[in-house]
Amino acid sequence: GMIRHYKFNVVMKNTTRLCSTKPIVTVNGEFPGPTVSAREGDTVLVKVVNHVKYNISIHWHGIRQLRTGWADGPAYITQCPIQPGQSFVYNFTVTGQRGTLLWHAHILWLRATVHGAIVILPKRGVPYPFPTPHKEAILILGEWWKSDVEEVINEALQSGMAPNVSDAHTINGHPGPVSRCYSESGFNIPVKPGKTYMLRIINAALNEELFFKIAGHTLTVVEVDATYTKPFKTDTVVIAPGQTTNVLLTTNLGTGKYLVAASPFMDSMAIFVDNVTATATLHYEGTLSTTPTTLTVPPPRNATPIATTFMNSLRSLNSKKYPAKLPLTIDHQLLFAIGLGLNPCATCARGARVVADINNVTFVMPTVSLLQAHFFNIGGVFTDDFPGNPPIAFDYTGTQPTNLATMSGTRLYRLPYNATVQLVLQDTGMITPENHPIHLHGFNFFVVGRGVGNFNPEKDPKKFNLLDPVERNTIAVPSGGWSAIRFRADNPGVWFLHCHLEVHTTWGLKMAFVVDNGKGADESLLPPPSDLPKC
Ligand code: C2O
Repeated sequence: GMIRHYKFNVVMKNTTRLCSTKPIVTVNGEFPGPTVSAREGDTVLVKVVNHVKYNISIHWHGIRQLRTGWADGPAYITQCPIQPGQSFVYNFTVTGQRGTLLWHAHILWLRATVHGAIVILPKRGVPYPFPTPHKEAILILGEWWKSDVEEVINEALQSGMAPNVSDAHTINGHPGPVSRCYSESGFNIPVKPGKTYMLRIINAALNEELFFKIAGHTLTVVEVDATYTKPFKTDTVVIAPGQTTNVLLTTNLGTGKYLVAASPFMDSMAIFVDNVTATATLHYEGTLSTTPTTLTVPPPRNATPIATTFMNSLRSLNSKKYPAKLPLTIDHQLLFAIGLGLNPCATCARGARVVADINNVTFVMPTVSLLQAHFFNIGGVFTDDFPGNPPIAFDYTGTQPTNLATMSGTRLYRLPYNATVQLVLQDTGMITPENHPIHLHGFNFFVVGRGVGNFNPEKDPKKFNLLDPVERNTIAVPSGGWSAIRFRADNPGVWFLHCHLEVHTTWGLKMAFVVDNGKGADESLLPPPSDLPKC
């Protein structure tokens, strides 16, 4: 493969949205940031130079990082952050993946504005397993806050309560036309009639799952999280933070302007939601600017049946060329109960603080990186006694248990290299059931089942899809339900697992696996790069 060089200057940039201007953290002054493109097999070198007052680190979300865990990016998990005035070169090779992914800051809430697309083309001469599109477009869905996002989360942490929601959703950084803001229009997608386009849709939002729709057009899903799927048609795409979806769009209407809409999907009752739909315009060539735009009605925020139908339609392509390498025997059977809790807090307004947990553990971030602690055998940083099952079984989706308090710790789960894992992610109604997009670093996994209510270990596995389960890196665990995933621990290192709703990660809905290589030479993690930042 080729070597691709990128330079990311992390700089502040004054940016105007919703009629007001504020300085935001950006890469190279762009919001969203620059696209990283590579072909399968290429090596990517990104030099990140930190010119801002915050510590920074960048994560290449969904890149496997086989043996290169040092380049994964989550601060204090695989590296110490890049301090102001410092730089670090992320160096990784793209192996066995093709499609769309995203990169984003992986520290504080900086990913609100520090994010961009990763486009992985197939190897030269290798076609897509679907008709070659006439053109491609990247659509990054996100959020805009009028206030400074770091202030939003810091205030919430002080009060112990939930943070404010964003002021608008965005498509490629734009909420859509805002009345009375002269310079602001929505993003424009120019198309020619009678062609097929590929849209690379990315959800880079901090805190919301989204519906995505285009008026008058049906979309064909062909890939998610840089893995090919069996093509299927849908009016609405459902996409959680951290997920990516490639769709084909046939411009069969010939003329006109059609609204493109991104709106929230959040089916729990208690939570605040940013209800502002982001809009863009699909604009057929030659259509007069005076032609009215054909509108679309986004699904209501609690349209769970639409989401369920969408998720159940996702299947891996599982062709001869792209087989689903699903583990059929399982070494580690894990059940992670995920949710929110309440811990006592003397300084908080209500005497308690909202926390989040997995198996009743609220994860505590270390002050040195876990990967370094593992690689150099530094004691006292973490323990490897993370519970593989909830310490107390309860009716996860029934009434609240009386004790909502959690334990805390920097506890990891140890997996021998190449072990096979089945992990059931069970949402709980500790405070309220919620959708949780769970992301695993370092691996793709297969989604063998999902359901509502409590996972039933006797009955539910009988219904698992062991034939063509979708392969991905982020799974939207249904509100008040469960998802079952399988993966092979074929990547040595320390790998973060967390809710990709930033508020839940901040509250502690996270843990890490340590995958131990034993001694085998090609199974082992490469040594750390010499410029790896220090804490
Ligand atoms: Cu996209 Cu750990 O995150």
